[in-house]
Amino acid sequence: MAGLGLSEMWAIRLLKQPFTQQIKQFHLSTALSASSVAQEKTPKIKTVQVYRWNPETPEIKPKMQEYKIDLNACGPMVLDVLIKIKNSEDSTLTFRRSCREGICGSCAMNIGGVNTLACISAINQDLSKPLKIYPLPHMYVVKDLVPDMKLFYKQYASIEPWLHTDVIPSNNKEHLQHTYDREKLDGLYECILCACCSTSCPSYWWNSEKYLGPAVLMQAYRWIIDSRDKATSERLDKMRDPFSVFRCHTIMNCTRTCPKGLNPGRAIARIKSLLSGVTSKEEPKAITQ
Ligand code: SF4
Ligand code: SF4
Ligand code: FES
Repeated sequence: MAGLGLSEMWAIRLLKQPFTQQIKQFHLSTALSASSVAQEKTPKIKTVQVYRWNPETPEIKPKMQEYKIDLNACGPMVLDVLIKIKNSEDSTLTFRRSCREGICGSCAMNIGGVNTLACISAINQDLSKPLKIYPLPHMYVVKDLVPDMKLFYKQYASIEPWLHTDVIPSNNKEHLQHTYDREKLDGLYECILCACCSTSCPSYWWNSEKYLGPAVLMQAYRWIIDSRDKATSERLDKMRDPFSVFRCHTIMNCTRTCPKGLNPGRAIARIKSLLSGVTSKEEPKAITQ
């Protein structure tokens, strides 16, 4: 071992150990070096203000609680800062999260005035500006950053988001679809139902009991336009009232805020155009096998 540096000697010792032991030691050394890097760097203290409300003490009004977080000791995303607060500052802070990949939609909240997903929102590194985090607006709050999604899911269920057909598939297995028809679902099926769009829509704020809102309407359109679905007229007839769809005034907040880059405003415009008879659903293209 003569002539070898400390790190080379550590690496050789590590390689001689069983694999599971190697993994444990590797994680330990990475954690140690990350924390020593955080210790060595000049602190980057960010003020984080978070909306707090506890249903167990309803007599205490909602408030903004302030935390000072060193960004050197925290991941780069807003969800990282919330996890950091919960793990090392205040375990009572409550928020939803699951995938931390922008896939599950559970970490939707209002960050710096914009409805978005905490896990894919980078923390603004400007230390002079506080990071302000609220729950999604105009929703009942269950606790802290957790909105009550009951009405949203009830409305989603009301559009019956599954295939309606009595056609027996020709191969007895699956309902085949021409690629031309399949492409019509692009930009619709990617929706993760985070509700960022619906809760940014002024029409939904004021009429959420009767207006379905952009997220649910985009999902309704996803089934209306599906070439395999045979309940198009029934689906449209359920929306022929002044509120379900026509409360949309094309303000387009929904499209501007969607963290997945989708366009619910356009889907609503297409439903309106089907409802008013300006357009009609095309017949499915024949599939040649
Ligand atoms: S359209 Fe976008 S903002 Fe609206 S629920 Fe779907 S993913 Fe979220
Ligand atoms: S376009 Fe329609 S659904 Fe979207 S924000 Fe405006 S009113 Fe709401
Ligand atoms: S944690 Fe799943 S979308 Fe953010």
